[in-house]
Amino acid sequence: MVSTLKWWESAVIYQIYPRSFNDSNGDGIGDLPGITERLPYIADLGVDAIWISPFFKSPQRDFGYDVSDYCDIHPEYGTLADFDTMIKRTHELGLKLMIDIVPAHCSDQHPWFEESRQSRDNPKADWFHWVDPKPDGSAPTNWLSFFGGRAWTWEPRRQQYYLHNFLAQQPNLNHANPAVQAAFVDVAKFWFDRGVDGFRLDAVHTINADAAPYADNLANPSFVPGALPQQQQPFFRQLHDSAQLNQPSIQRFSEAYRQCADSYEGDRFLMGEVHGDDARKVSQTFTAEGRLHATYNFNLLAWDGLSVSEMRSVISEAVEAFNDSGRLCFAFSNHDVPRSATRQLGALGLDPSQQQAMQLLLLKLESCLIGSTCIYQGEELALPDVRDIPVEQMQDPWGIEFAPAFLGRDTCRTPMVWRAAAPNGGFSSAASTWLPVAKSHLARAGLDEAERADSVYRHFADFLGWRKSQPALVSANSITNIGGDEHTLSFERISDAQTLRCHFNFKTLAATFEEL
Ligand code: BGC
Repeated sequence: MVSTLKWWESAVIYQIYPRSFNDSNGDGIGDLPGITERLPYIADLGVDAIWISPFFKSPQRDFGYDVSDYCDIHPEYGTLADFDTMIKRTHELGLKLMIDIVPAHCSDQHPWFEESRQSRDNPKADWFHWVDPKPDGSAPTNWLSFFGGRAWTWEPRRQQYYLHNFLAQQPNLNHANPAVQAAFVDVAKFWFDRGVDGFRLDAVHTINADAAPYADNLANPSFVPGALPQQQQPFFRQLHDSAQLNQPSIQRFSEAYRQCADSYEGDRFLMGEVHGDDARKVSQTFTAEGRLHATYNFNLLAWDGLSVSEMRSVISEAVEAFNDSGRLCFAFSNHDVPRSATRQLGALGLDPSQQQAMQLLLLKLESCLIGSTCIYQGEELALPDVRDIPVEQMQDPWGIEFAPAFLGRDTCRTPMVWRAAAPNGGFSSAASTWLPVAKSHLARAGLDEAERADSVYRHFADFLGWRKSQPALVSANSITNIGGDEHTLSFERISDAQTLRCHFNFKTLAATFEEL
């Protein structure tokens, strides 16, 4: 069917975590040639696009979200030639390719930071947020880091603090400096010139683009410690949009990026990962005229899962702000939260025997919402979260900081399995892999499941084939009559050619569709 929407307005996007997808050279770590080898598996599923988490040169302190060269490939993942082969094959299979750009911070081993930290007067002196201590020697503001502790670290060479909203090894770039912005536009051009169709822009709300002096964050008057340890961090006791995050100056970045994307042919897409004290307002601000095309909606990703009524509220609230537009992207899973097959099973009070049917229902639901949706690798197999990784084998710095109270993000990042009977489930021929392969995943190995008639993969592939022929789902972005009860969720999708009633029953785990 020929749609008048741009590709990204209704795309089903498959997210790949490259370290854990497929290892082609037997070192226990996934790589780009490994992705190329599995592209037919992704194309056969019937998705429209791929988003690959960072594969740039990086010391891997935050597994690629700490970049030391934005225009080269991390040696464990391959070479630029491997990237060119991968993108060529992706396009031949009719898929779009999105990559993950990390503009807010780089690695402390990036040459920009290595130079900047040496003195107060070198050519890169002003590329990061360097601030003098308070008269008593303490940090300039009360800002805290997402991963625990202060957002400021002392640099003895400069006798100053630098800002990092995540790890101390991820210094925040100073986007108040026009040279930093220009460098990031050059990064965008480098990858657009190589043919990428769009970017997922990492943690854009954590870009700091204001010049010092910085104000303190205000206390969050409605802070209630959440049930989960990661929700009890002091970080959540503050209101961040009062000073640290989401200041209006960030939009200089989104406007520069949009201008760059618009200077290329072929609907290059910019999707921002944004968050804030008022997430809806932040998403609207980032997608205002001349800024990003869409933002990533976090609200279906709740750490402890959502009841049907909560899902309905999330959808209704997002739709209130974005109906009739494709300027948002929903997701039930990604590389930062426990896998939805486990999270949602608990939240919906279902039995483990229902896990696959429930996951299929979630996949269908998100593919019927307005805008785009991101499916995380393994969701098409209903892979459960992996909670038995021995502490000494954990890799995620956030989990290592909190374990055993909170296991961090390794639980959703274990290697994909491809063939139950192969060593390491077919992920790698190495003696050991960077995170252990989960035994609980072997019965749902990707290539095995793609061949099995009754698998979640096959049913979802059939569903995506059907979806492509429904004008209300792929030719318009209008949704209405969101309703249902404790166990059911329903809505109507409308285009000029069709009104489609979509009904999801979380008791019988059936999705039904009726043309009105
Ligand atoms: C990414 C995380 C990463 C963080 C810092 C995000 O939101 O999704 O995986 O740790 O940004 O870059």
